[in-house]
Amino acid sequence: MPSAPDILADAVERALGAPAMIRPCADPKFGDYQANGVMAVAKQRKTNPVALAKEVLAKLDVADVCEPPTVAGAGFINFRLAPAFVARQAAAAAADERLGVPTVAKPNTVVIDFSSPNVAKPMHVGHIRSTIIGDCLARVMKFLGHRVITDNHLGDWGTQFGMLIVGWKRFRDDKALAHDPIAELERLYKYVNDREDLRGDAKAELAKLQRGDVENHTIWQEIIELSQQEFEKVYQRLGVTFDRTLGESFYNPMLKEVVEELDRLGIARQSEGALCIFFEDDPELKKTAPLIIRKADGAFLYGTTDMATLKYRIDQWHPDEIIYITDARQQLHFKQVFAAARKWWKQVPDLRHVYFGSILDEDGKPLKTREGTPVKLVDLLDEAEERALAVVTEKNPELSAEVRSQIARAVGIGAVKYADLSQNRTTDYVFSWPKMLAMNGNTAPYMQYAYVRVQSIFRKSGREGEAPAEPHFAHPAELDLAKHILRFPETLHAVADDDKPNWLTAYLYDLAGRFSVFYDNCPVLQSEEPTRSSRLTLCRLTADVMKRGLNLLGIDVIEQM
Ligand code: ARG
Repeated sequence: MPSAPDILADAVERALGAPAMIRPCADPKFGDYQANGVMAVAKQRKTNPVALAKEVLAKLDVADVCEPPTVAGAGFINFRLAPAFVARQAAAAAADERLGVPTVAKPNTVVIDFSSPNVAKPMHVGHIRSTIIGDCLARVMKFLGHRVITDNHLGDWGTQFGMLIVGWKRFRDDKALAHDPIAELERLYKYVNDREDLRGDAKAELAKLQRGDVENHTIWQEIIELSQQEFEKVYQRLGVTFDRTLGESFYNPMLKEVVEELDRLGIARQSEGALCIFFEDDPELKKTAPLIIRKADGAFLYGTTDMATLKYRIDQWHPDEIIYITDARQQLHFKQVFAAARKWWKQVPDLRHVYFGSILDEDGKPLKTREGTPVKLVDLLDEAEERALAVVTEKNPELSAEVRSQIARAVGIGAVKYADLSQNRTTDYVFSWPKMLAMNGNTAPYMQYAYVRVQSIFRKSGREGEAPAEPHFAHPAELDLAKHILRFPETLHAVADDDKPNWLTAYLYDLAGRFSVFYDNCPVLQSEEPTRSSRLTLCRLTADVMKRGLNLLGIDVIEQM
């Protein structure tokens, strides 16, 4: 089922002979969609844009879809969807498991590199953003029909292992390790790191590990194993899975060859003993320090691993897009890696660094515990569920403890995810429990509650499971709601095109608002047939789109609240 903007784009493109550039109208006064493509063509052909728009209008055949289109301003064409068309589309969406969202004609292979915490360290709130945003983008792209490969690029290699191995061998507390492995590993790391006198030993243990010493290799593997078990608990609570978990160490055997090739091709060159990639031809990057791929002492670095990772992904998976999700501080790193890739290959996939800002406390400082240490993800999720339980208990004291804690889980985890996804990801945001758990406003609890309300109307109707009727529109709020429901596909495309989950949260919040207006003005259960069935179809569509939308954000719905 092609969507309205797709049909309009096709029609205008045929009449214009160039891309139609269909966009939603900013102001519904002018219509639902506008075509912006005429102006560019007029400029190119040096003709009057308004005259050209009128010519296009004369050739357009869109009577099935909309009211007669109009030319406005400097040469826009405005379209207002015809109620009969909206009714047909809504009926088709209601009968469709995918709610009228077609899969893309040409699926892309998309690698999404996200979460990627560092071994032997707790996942902190910074990793939560990568995990939540990455999971959402993966869900949306998969739903649109792309072939998505999610890859958790664990930080499982590096100089910290020298210190960890010294700590493990000499200062390990097995009881503490069994109780909270990551906390104990972190303690060992800090302890050794603080002791000047152990520097030499740590260096020696690291060298042994790098040489493949069996004992150290075993310890290293054990540390990774323990960390991964802890990470896995967090992923399970968040409902996040990965297709691959290829950590940095996976690429170790490839580094030497990659560096030699970059050297041989002249992409890298010696500078003060180190092997570096310079970007003299790049106006922005030429002012920065080069990307070092081998230090003077022969050691490889983070960037070396990323070059090898890129080569591996390209060779193995032939991706069309690779998306990296980290905080904004790694922007320069990825700009350099991408620029280096363009020197290495004639054609590279679409490489995107999807970065995000920091989470701040109410004073505008990076979020810390009272003791001043970074907030751990596990503690944050525990607190979210506890606070959600208090909210649910206050609202619904009569529910059983088990049901309440089930609801609290969905609401608490949902609130944390939604708070994150509803931000414009590139800016910092202030973390606030009361705000994210509010029953009013652009929050998960509000959306989950809106879903419960719509579902309950439907349940009371006694018409669950029946084929939906085609809606008709007597009140403007009905048409308005239906048109918004039909914007679900274009919203998902906008999320995927801009890597911005907040388009989806905004859409859902708007949907809940339009539903409220509809429900305040249009009685559903008390109305006569055929109006009753028509309105029930709108209720059903609203609930289904809310459920699907929340699911694509990685948030569970609940049936009572
Ligand atoms: N482990 C890194 C960190 O915590 C993130 C890795 C991101 N992915 C990559 N291919 N560099 O900062």
